[in-house]
Amino acid sequence: MPVETYEKLGSFYLGKTVPMDGQGQPPELVLYDSKDLTTHAVIIGMTGSGKTGLGVALLEEALIDKIPVIAIDPKGDITNLALTFPGLQAEDLKPWVNPQEALAKGKTVEAYAADEARKWTDGLAQWGQNPERIARLKAAAELTIYTPGSSAGASVSLLRRFNAPPAAVIDDPDLFSERIETTTSSLMALLDLEADPLSSREHILVANIFSHTWREGQGLDLAGLIQAIQNPPFERVGIMDLDSFYPAKDRFALAMRINNLLAAPGFSAWLEGTPLSIPDLLHTPTGQPRASVFTISHLSDAQRMFFVSMLLNELLGWMRTQSGTTSLRAILYMDEVFGYFPPVSNPPSKTPLLRLLKQARAFGLGVVLATQNPVDLDYRGLSNTGTWLIGRLQTERDQMRVMDGLQGGALGGKMDAGRLKPILAGLESRTFLLHNVHEDGPVVFKSRWALSYLRGPLTRDQIKQLAPPSDDDALAATPGPAVSADTVRAAATHQAAPSVPPDIPVYFIKGSGAGQNGTYVPHVFGQMAIYYSSAKYQVDLARSVALAAPLEDGPVPLDWDAATALSADADTLEMEPMSGVGFGDLPAIALKPTAYRKWQKDLTRWTKANHPVTLLRCKPLKLTSTPEESEGEFRSRMALALHEQRDLAVEKLRRKYASRFQTLKNRLLTAEQAIAREAEQAKARQVDTVISFGTAILGAFLGRKTVSARSTSRVGTAMKSAGRMQKEKMDVARAKERAEAIGQQMAELEIRLQEDIEKLEMQFDPENETLEEIRIAPKLSDISVELFGLAWLPYRKTEQGRFLPDWSGAG
Ligand SMILES: Nc1ncnc2c1ncn2[C@@H]1O[C@H](COP(=O)(O)OP(=O)(O)O)[C@@H](O)[C@H]1O
Ligand SMILES: [Mg+2]
Repeated sequence: MPVETYEKLGSFYLGKTVPMDGQGQPPELVLYDSKDLTTHAVIIGMTGSGKTGLGVALLEEALIDKIPVIAIDPKGDITNLALTFPGLQAEDLKPWVNPQEALAKGKTVEAYAADEARKWTDGLAQWGQNPERIARLKAAAELTIYTPGSSAGASVSLLRRFNAPPAAVIDDPDLFSERIETTTSSLMALLDLEADPLSSREHILVANIFSHTWREGQGLDLAGLIQAIQNPPFERVGIMDLDSFYPAKDRFALAMRINNLLAAPGFSAWLEGTPLSIPDLLHTPTGQPRASVFTISHLSDAQRMFFVSMLLNELLGWMRTQSGTTSLRAILYMDEVFGYFPPVSNPPSKTPLLRLLKQARAFGLGVVLATQNPVDLDYRGLSNTGTWLIGRLQTERDQMRVMDGLQGGALGGKMDAGRLKPILAGLESRTFLLHNVHEDGPVVFKSRWALSYLRGPLTRDQIKQLAPPSDDDALAATPGPAVSADTVRAAATHQAAPSVPPDIPVYFIKGSGAGQNGTYVPHVFGQMAIYYSSAKYQVDLARSVALAAPLEDGPVPLDWDAATALSADADTLEMEPMSGVGFGDLPAIALKPTAYRKWQKDLTRWTKANHPVTLLRCKPLKLTSTPEESEGEFRSRMALALHEQRDLAVEKLRRKYASRFQTLKNRLLTAEQAIAREAEQAKARQVDTVISFGTAILGAFLGRKTVSARSTSRVGTAMKSAGRMQKEKMDVARAKERAEAIGQQMAELEIRLQEDIEKLEMQFDPENETLEEIRIAPKLSDISVELFGLAWLPYRKTEQGRFLPDWSGAG
């Protein structure tokens, strides 16, 4: 089957079947329905069994289908997803081949790269994949390798701030307390404090601080945590007085410990970089899917645990804010889950992982875990996993354990131990037993060749080469809000704030604190509560907006078009100026209260005209974005809607063809049995050789799928009628003719199916579709000005004599 066909179906091409029990069926494609992954998967196999290769192939399929991926990569192998070379030339591979391997083979790096390039070209060809498919994979998604706690790859700031979880988490008492426990435990581990959640006072104090702060909707950075430990925002812990529970002197010691962590060399890497934001890890700002690979092999055990727990927590919180779906929305892949989800102990990563396995299905988040040994996994996790991919196992005991698991539930009588045992014992590397609850029975297959070049863990320098150029320079180049030449010239002429009449409120906008070469420039400031509503688009929204427009000494002293948006946060405003900062000239009009009344009116009118809430609308899907949703998030929601439509269409196709295919298959079986009986060779399986003739798609698309209870009961009746037929006589020639005629009908059915699949067209590309903008302006009566007056905004003079904004959040 051409690759384009199954790609249209949202089917993941995992490999090809290999004969089970030594029967000689020809290989069939193993296609895996993407939406089956919403019930999660485990890949179990010893080192070298091909788990990572299979995992990489699965992720490649997902990315080609535009499903975003977050991968946790404890060993560094998943970074290989970045090694996609459509040309597959020796030159392409040369920087990436392992020089030690070349040496071991007695070859130059050049020669070895040429060997590897050939190996990959041949491997892909053997698996029916062309280099264009590599190009498609490369173009489908944006890949980023993150190296938490290191600057080799992209960095994530994990410790800069412990953000409050979303309301959906805070409002769920169990989930909220789990979040607090996980965060606290992983932080304690990072501090090297063996803290028992129930008896350690360190743990209890920090958990209480998180609980208290988050409940108020506030985040907490490490400095804030250090402060809160010394001066907790509560006076009692349980019923005990704080100081008897944990005396101030001892609390100081704990605060010091965190401070020492902050001061440790290399620690800054934990503070820099982008915050862990799941929507940003899944999609680019324009809605393109992303593959975010987190390589953590360079970290200590405690650091890894900390990172993994924090990521899982974020994922869990994000998930709870998503709408339900039956399609696959995103994948969390974890290569080598050993230690993070053990059956007995209770590391911080375990609770969130178990939660994900139990609940992620409803939100379309598929979790895929790979591990060497079945005992690495808590059985509650396994029982929530719909797909098992069992590779070669090291010991007979491991095989027995997997068999027990499969027999006791998962496989539910679909295959008996007597048959299963030799199959498991005989698995070679890259061959896997696939058990999928959504399919009739298990199948053994060999994983397809990976599109990415599997070289093993990348070195630090190689990861650096892959990292996109840092955008620090771009940031520095962006000009701040404009201040006119007049304002600048007039700046810094006064030591103290010019006095104004008492009925004009005066505010000072908080500066970055530098104070050097600082100047306050006069502005008119207004802070408003704006209410937006639209019954048509179901908008019902309150927003705080703060604006400041510079005061000019000219014919138009104030122009709201030149206003700067400030954070409408109580922290931004101060009643007293910073010391050591000069003041610019204040135009005379700024001393007249009547002018402020006019400016305030202007502001409300200006706001009505210029401060709408903008929604995006996708007409063909009849979908509208929400005010909180970014364009990228909305486009990813569009992509999900298209996937849902596609999955429904595929399901319909399957239903349309299943019964017809089943009927023909049964007739063929009957005919085959007649032939066999007449020819007195009881090779019941011969039937498969005929079926496979010209029916590759039917077989792969419908073969093992449990379509409906009806189709299975039909098999039953067909079997019975086959039995009846056995009593009748039929000559071999006629039976063969008949079988061939049925085979012909099947081939025709296959062609019709192929045509129907061709018609399954994505309506449009969700990343590039033009969207309509809907502006919802507030009514004048829905804009209430809460603060209004004169505001001094701090600027800083650069060495080039330019004035740049110096308030926090500026630029
Ligand atoms: N799908 C695949 N395509 C090409 N080579 C593969 C594939 N799977 C495994 N291999 C080869 O087999 C080796 C071992 O497989 P790997 O997936 O790393 O095993 P595991 O993760 O179970 O230890 C890899 O280094 C690679 O050379
Ligand atoms: Mg591996």
